[in-house]
Amino acid sequence: MEKIKVGILGATGAVGQRFIQLLENHPWFEVSFLVASQKSAGKLYKDAVKWKLETPIPEKVKDLFIYDISNLNTNGAKILFSGLDSSVAGEVEEFYAKNGYIIISNSKNHRMVENVPLLIPEINYEHINLIKHQNYKGAIITNPNCSATFFTLVCGILNKKWPIELINVVTMQAISGAGYPGIASYDILGNVVPYISGEESKMETEPQKMMGKLDNGKIIYENIIISASANRVAVIDGHTESVSISFKEGVPTIEELKNELRNFESPIFKMNLPTAVKFPVRVMEEEDRPQPRLDINFEKGMAVSVGRIRKDNIFDYKMTILGHNTIKGAAGAAILNAELFVYLFNEKLK
Ligand SMILES: NC(=O)c1ccc[n+]([C@@H]2O[C@H](COP(=O)([O-])OP(=O)(O)OC[C@H]3O[C@@H](n4cnc5c(N)ncnc54)[C@H](OP(=O)(O)O)[C@@H]3O)[C@@H](O)[C@H]2O)c1
Repeated sequence: MEKIKVGILGATGAVGQRFIQLLENHPWFEVSFLVASQKSAGKLYKDAVKWKLETPIPEKVKDLFIYDISNLNTNGAKILFSGLDSSVAGEVEEFYAKNGYIIISNSKNHRMVENVPLLIPEINYEHINLIKHQNYKGAIITNPNCSATFFTLVCGILNKKWPIELINVVTMQAISGAGYPGIASYDILGNVVPYISGEESKMETEPQKMMGKLDNGKIIYENIIISASANRVAVIDGHTESVSISFKEGVPTIEELKNELRNFESPIFKMNLPTAVKFPVRVMEEEDRPQPRLDINFEKGMAVSVGRIRKDNIFDYKMTILGHNTIKGAAGAAILNAELFVYLFNEKLK
């Protein structure tokens, strides 16, 4: 099939670079349009970007021009991935959606809007139907805050079988989560910073929407009490989370809980989406895993790893969850959402 042209808003940032890397050999999508700030606009990508990834800048993207945020001549791109800074993402994403473009966003700005899907498609792909209730010529689809993604995927699977009452999550988040240049080395080396602006409230609210049920074009929010504490640690990629949960009733045994997670087959896998993983959760039995350096690239960063599942003295269970913040927590998640959109709403691209 002829590849679908796509654009990247915020192409020079940490998430933007991941988009470009992950889309290099994508079987459906081809990058044809780039947007960044005034500082970068008018330059070639290779001259504007401070490339930080371990693979080289893809040849096809190196010499693409960077446009500014008001450009509607997208060189054939109808789907626009957004890794824009949240100070501009709200307005810019709406501008393009009103003009007929499909926005697949990582930014916080539209996540909690009633008719905007907030997707972890392995647990709530049907929420994508909310776009039928949007008033845009195009559409806006979002993926969650990176830290919210990992424990919500795990809890979302469990919650379908054994309703959850309480979640406590303490994160140890990588510096790439703050974008580039992010936090100064002087502040993070040999240190832990126990504050990330806005992060805790996102982890406490977004899961309620994601685990909610789609009913008559609206999401009925889940009602779980969530307490989150966010910390920045000196890790490059990969957010680690210590998570404790209690169930409302009917507490599974440890083996039942582990089996539910390890045998959970992604319902979107059968759609043959290129980025979908059949088993999105890996249960690890080693006593000191998962660890970011060893485990974030499992399933090319698109699965989460869970280990140290054990009984807790306050909650029912506690565990350690790890995910790749710029892949499953950002660019990879958005690419999967775009594939789902193409699979279900292909006619909107014509
Ligand atoms: N990093 C993660 O792990 C992660 C995970 C999930 C979600 N997110 C979200 O994804 C978004 C991007 O994050 P990031 O970490 O990639 O940030 P980043 O490295 O700071 O990149 C921000 C991007 O936005 C562009 N930009 C900034 N101001 C702009 C303006 N006024 N007009 C047009 N473009 C502008 C920048 O272009 P210039 O280079 O030209 O300034 C850059 O391309 C944020 O909303 C963030 O919250 C990030």
